[in-house]
Amino acid sequence: MANVELKQVVKRYGSVEVVHGVDLEIRDNEFIVLVGPSGCGKSTVLRMVAGLEAISGGEVLIGDRVVNQESPKDRNVAMVFQNYALYPHMSVRENMGFSLKMRGSGKDEIAAKVNETARILELEPYLERKPSELSGGQRQRVAMGRAMVRKPDVFLFDEPLSNLDAQLRTQMRMELRKMHMRLATTTIYVTHDQIEAMTLADRIVILKDGYIQQVGSPIEVFEKPVNVFVAQFIGNPPMNILKGTYRVADGRRIVQVGKSAFPVTEGKAESLKDGTPVLVGIRPDAIKMGDRTEKLPPEWLCSGEVVVSEILGGQSHLEIVIDGENELIAEVEGRVLAHPGETVPIGFEFDRMVLFDPETTNAIV
Ligand SMILES: Nc1ncnc2c1ncn2[C@@H]1O[C@H](COP(=O)(O)OP(=O)(O)O)[C@@H](O)[C@H]1O
Ligand SMILES: [Mg+2]
Repeated sequence: MANVELKQVVKRYGSVEVVHGVDLEIRDNEFIVLVGPSGCGKSTVLRMVAGLEAISGGEVLIGDRVVNQESPKDRNVAMVFQNYALYPHMSVRENMGFSLKMRGSGKDEIAAKVNETARILELEPYLERKPSELSGGQRQRVAMGRAMVRKPDVFLFDEPLSNLDAQLRTQMRMELRKMHMRLATTTIYVTHDQIEAMTLADRIVILKDGYIQQVGSPIEVFEKPVNVFVAQFIGNPPMNILKGTYRVADGRRIVQVGKSAFPVTEGKAESLKDGTPVLVGIRPDAIKMGDRTEKLPPEWLCSGEVVVSEILGGQSHLEIVIDGENELIAEVEGRVLAHPGETVPIGFEFDRMVLFDPETTNAIV
């Protein structure tokens, strides 16, 4: 059990700085997901916590102890890598017990811990097999088991599901979530996959170019992104971003997008002046179409022309052009068969609209 803290953590490779003063407080038992595009510094941050990479500046604390100078084995953290790094010539049992053996634990103790972990991970039937005799998902569980037997203070995962096919990934995601509930161990999990971040995290940390963009619960970063980057990185399809102008007319605050007027919720963007250009962010699932728009006031509606529609099973995605210029992706419930060129009435949940400054791309609160 441990909290983890990063204070102004910097990483330089030679003269190139790749992580720029990262501050982050991770609570005991929390599941934190670091997410961002490839090359943004996720693995580097994780490896500095693990002790696999020297820290160029700032401090890393584990359980209130500064660990900058501690070797990886003294930090009591366990890391699971994307490629599992299992020993091919050892059985599952030997792989899982290896770190305990290296620490000089006795045979009985190792057997007890390996058996207990194998039971939790449902690996008991495979203990005598070699990694080559296992499926990808089973190997993945062995890699986790190897990390778990030591009862570390912190689990560190670096894209552990990237090598699995889509179905197995979904299944392992659920397993990880259940395992975390059972073990309640502080976890830092790195991925470039925003769905993994949304489904696994207590809090998500979004990184870009070695800078933290936003830290928040999955719902916070989804509904209240701090900038256009977060708005489009989180969520699939990404948030729609339209060009508009903020207007105040007859005491009504609206955003004009093409010929359409979207009302601005009270308390939002109060500081804006009439005529200010804005970017308007609307989540695809905040767009309603067809008879579902009936309960919305008529002035909120506009019509759009369907470019293409896709049915995903229970939901449909529609690409729609409004006023002949602004393209939107709508995610609507049910199977909506719309023909290209067809005009459909659409409405929005305007209280979920987010406005951004076109110059800084930061959200206007
Ligand atoms: N050993 C290294 N030497 C020089 N640059 C490195 C090294 N490792 C990583 N980098 C650079 O640091 C940045 C962050 O890398 P990394 O943390 O691996 O990104 P991510 O895990 O988010 O894909 C990248 O620009 C990468 O090229
Ligand atoms: Mg990486």
